[in-house]
Parts: sequence; C-alpha cells; structure tokens
Amino acid sequence: MQRDLDAADPLADYRVRTSPYYRPAAREVALYEHAYDHRLALLLKGPTGCGKTRFIEYMAWKLGRPLITLACNEDMTAADLVGRWLLDERGTVWQDGPLTLAVRHGAICYLDEVVEARQDTTVVIHPLTDARRLLPLDRKGELVHAHPDFQLVVSYNPGYQGQAKELKPSTRQRFAALDFDYPPEDVEIEIVAHEAGVTPHLAARLVGLARRTRTLRERGLAEGASTRMLIYAATLIRDGVDPRDACTMTLTNALTDDPDLAAALRDLVHASFA
Ligand SMILES: Nc1ncnc2c1ncn2[C@@H]1O[C@H](COP(=O)(O)OP(=O)(O)OP(=O)(O)O)[C@@H](O)[C@H]1O
Ligand SMILES: [Mg+2]
Repeated sequence: MQRDLDAADPLADYRVRTSPYYRPAAREVALYEHAYDHRLALLLKGPTGCGKTRFIEYMAWKLGRPLITLACNEDMTAADLVGRWLLDERGTVWQDGPLTLAVRHGAICYLDEVVEARQDTTVVIHPLTDARRLLPLDRKGELVHAHPDFQLVVSYNPGYQGQAKELKPSTRQRFAALDFDYPPEDVEIEIVAHEAGVTPHLAARLVGLARRTRTLRERGLAEGASTRMLIYAATLIRDGVDPRDACTMTLTNALTDDPDLAAALRDLVHASFA
C-alpha cells in the first residue's frame, strides 16, 4: 500500500518520515512558522556545524513538507537546478531538476551554501522569490507556477566568505533571514549529551573547551570548534578513546594546519582534560 502511494508521489523520497531531534536555541521555530505561513523565502546564516541543516529537517517534518536539499558549488549550472533534456530509449525527455520538482509539487527546497553558486545560476530563483512565484524553464518553454506549499530556503556562512563571495543585493533582498550561532552553553551541553549519548558532565567539559577555541578567532583561527565537532569528540570518548586523543583528532587536527594555533588548541585541550 505504502509502495502504491509512493509511486504516485513524486516527492516520496524527500518526505521526512521520522521526527529529527532538534533543540531550539531561541524563538527560531515560531519565527520560521510565521515565515512559512506567508511562504517567505528564508536565508539561514551561521557558522558551520551550528544546526542549520538539522533545523530545516526538523521544520520540514513539523510542517509535514518534503525537503529537497541541494549543496551549491561553483560548477553548478542553472540546468542542475531546473532540469534538462535527456536522451533515453523513448527519445528526448525532459527531467525536472531538484528546484523544479520542489516548485511543481510543493516541497521546501534548501540550497545549502548558496553563495558558492555563480550569480548567473542564482538569478533563476529571482522570479520565484518575489510576488510572482514563477519558475521559467526556458529550454522547455514552460512557465511553472509555484505550488502553494513551495518554499525556498538557502543557507550561508558569513564568517569565512570573503568579499568576492557575496550575494547580490537583488538576490539577498528577496529573503527574510534567521541568524544562527552556536547554541547557548546549557543548550549546547544538552545537544552534545543527547547526540553522542554521553553524560552532561562530559558534554559540559567539551562545550567549555569549544567556547574557548571560539575565542581564538582573534588569533587567526577561521572558525572555532563547532557543535558537530563536539559530538564527534564525545562519541569517541564514549567509545573509550582517551579524551586528549579524541580531541586532538576531532578538534585540533581538524581545525588548523598552523603550528602556533595547533599548539594553542593543544594547550586548551590539556587544560580541559588534565
Ligand atoms: N539545535 C540543535 N538541536 C539538535 N542537534 C543539533 C542542534 N544544533 C546542532 N546540532 C547537532 O550538530 C550537528 C551539526 O549541525 P548541522 O549539520 O545542522 O550544522 P550546519 O549549521 O548545517 O553546518 P554546515 O554549515 O556545515 O552545513 C547536527 O547533526 C546535530 O547533531
Ligand atoms: Mg548544513
């Protein structure tokens, strides 16, 4: 029965079927719901590994909408987003790209790291993200009117993208933005303990360490330890790996190649796990 239903559902693969664990840090859930009520396009800003992807998975589940995620890169073309003609045994057939699939059938489309895409690619979202809600498929000669449930969400990390990689104002001003950061200390402890299955006591030590690494930005570290890294470290420690080894592997070595910064990180690790 489920299979019959799925066959008729072009978004079957994109449904979020089980509730993702998401621990809100502030009012982001309610704010997202308001934005979705009006199908506002949304920009999620924040450092790597702070919970943006988990949040959108959770919101898609909560709103009962399928989620189509696409990681952007500079080789991506408009055709990778909207679709292309393909040759198969039936001849030339049109294949909707992920964006078109979401627009036609009413999914949330999440473009991860949108600034990585070239500007000539990002302009295809312009008529979709204003009052028109249209997606022109030039090569197919079709104008797709967005399904009422369709919403576009994009993410980017303002921390390490230089001036060269900025969204044009005409793109940027089509979005409402939610600002993400690492969660508050008590929330981050809860998340690490939950995700790695460790005690709050161990999670608190790791979170304390991460917060100290985040102050090393002034000394040239691009970004401090993320929540994601702490979960990796905690997972290894739970497995019985020595905490210093676990932190060297998942934090120090992963964060930098610079010998001075690595030494500073090592000192922080040793102070946390004396
Ligand atoms: N608020 C939260 N609730 C639950 N889990 C969280 C939360 N924040 C972070 N996490 C955990 O941290 C991990 C990393 O978060 P996530 O992948 O969502 O980061 P991101 O912001 O999308 O990073 P990137 O910019 O690199 O894609 C998640 O897999 C999850 O385990
Ligand atoms: Mg992500």
